[in-house]
Amino acid sequence: MFWVVSCHISYALIIVILKPLYFIYSFNYDYHHEELCNLESRQLFGVEMNHKVVSSEVKMDPSISPFIRNRLDVCVADADYDLFLDKIKYLGITLHDFVVEYLVIEGDVANKATRRARQKDVGYCIYGRPDFKNPLITYAICYLNESWCFGILHKEDITWHRHRQKPHSFSNSIGTIIAKTLVSVASQGHTAVKLLDACCGVGTVMLEACIAGFRIAGCDINPRAYHHALQNLKFYDYEAELYHSDIKDLTQTYDTAIIDLPYNLYSLTTDNIATHIITSAAARASRLVVVSIADIEPVITAAGLRVVDYATVVKRGKSLFTRKIWVCEPQ
Ligand SMILES: C[S@@+](CC[C@H](N)C(=O)[O-])C[C@H]1O[C@@H](n2cnc3c(N)ncnc32)[C@H](O)[C@@H]1O
Repeated sequence: MFWVVSCHISYALIIVILKPLYFIYSFNYDYHHEELCNLESRQLFGVEMNHKVVSSEVKMDPSISPFIRNRLDVCVADADYDLFLDKIKYLGITLHDFVVEYLVIEGDVANKATRRARQKDVGYCIYGRPDFKNPLITYAICYLNESWCFGILHKEDITWHRHRQKPHSFSNSIGTIIAKTLVSVASQGHTAVKLLDACCGVGTVMLEACIAGFRIAGCDINPRAYHHALQNLKFYDYEAELYHSDIKDLTQTYDTAIIDLPYNLYSLTTDNIATHIITSAAARASRLVVVSIADIEPVITAAGLRVVDYATVVKRGKSLFTRKIWVCEPQ
C-alpha cells in the first residue's frame, strides 16, 4: 500500500510515498461547455463525468485539460469516518509543511464548519507541522459515493491562459478552451503521440499542444495565417514543424490530425473543400478530430472513416453558432 523511501533529514522526517488506489478528477466549466467536457472525459477516461467528477484508475496530468481542476491520488478510502482516520494514522505520515484541503464535490452538503473540523481531524493523523501558506505537499479529503477519501492533491497548472494574449489572432481562430480540448481528445493523454494541425490558422491548437509537451506539426495554405502561426510559436519559444502548404502536399505521417475546417467569407467551405482536406489528412493520420460548423458527417464517411465520438459546442450567448466535433477512425 505504501513505501517508506527515506529517513535522513536531521529531525528524522519520514517521507512516505503513497501508492494510489485510484484517482478522483474534479472538473469545472461554463454551462455551454458541458458537452465538450464530457467528450474529453470519454476520450481520456472512457466515462462521462458524474457530478463534475470522474473516478478512474487512469492517471492523467490535470493540466492536459482546460476543465480538470484537481486530481486526488486516493490512497485511503472508507465509508466509516473513524476507520478512515485510523487508516490515515496507520500510514504513519511524518512530515512538516503540509496542508490538508477539503475538496467539495457536488452533492456534498457539509457546511464550512464541518469541513474545517474534518480537515483538522485528518491533520492530526499526520505527524509533523502544517504550513497553511506555503505547503510543500497538499493532502485532501473528500466525500464521494458514500466513502471518505484521502490522498495527495495535484492542482491544475493555468500557465496556458497566457496564450489568450498571443500576438496574432483572427476572426476564424478557435477559442483556447476548445483548442486545448482538441489536443486532449486527439492525444487521449498519450504524450508520445505525434499530432498534426492540418488547418492551423494562427496556430491556436499548436500552442496548446506545445505547452502540454506534445509533438505537433502544423500546416496552412494561407501565407498570412502561416506567418502569424510562426510568430505566435516564436513568441512563446515553442518549437514545432510548420508548413506553408496545402495539406495534400505533406509527406510525413502522424498519429492524429486535428482539422478545424475553414468557414465564412474569408475561407468559404464547400463539400469539395471539406472532402479535399479530410481525405488529404486521412492519408497522413489514421485518427482525425474534425471541427466544422456545417454537418460534414457524410463527407467523413465518404472518406472511408467512421465517427467514434461526437459533441457540439455552442458559442456563449450565440446559440445559432454551433461547432460540431467528430472523432474519426478508419472504417
Ligand atoms: C477555421 S481556420 C483555422 C483556424 C485555426 N484553428 C486558428 O485557431 O487559428 C481554417 C484554416 O484552414 C486553412 N486552409 C484552407 N484550406 C486548406 C488546405 N487545403 N490546406 C491547409 N490549410 C487550409 C485556411 O487558410 C484557414 O486558415
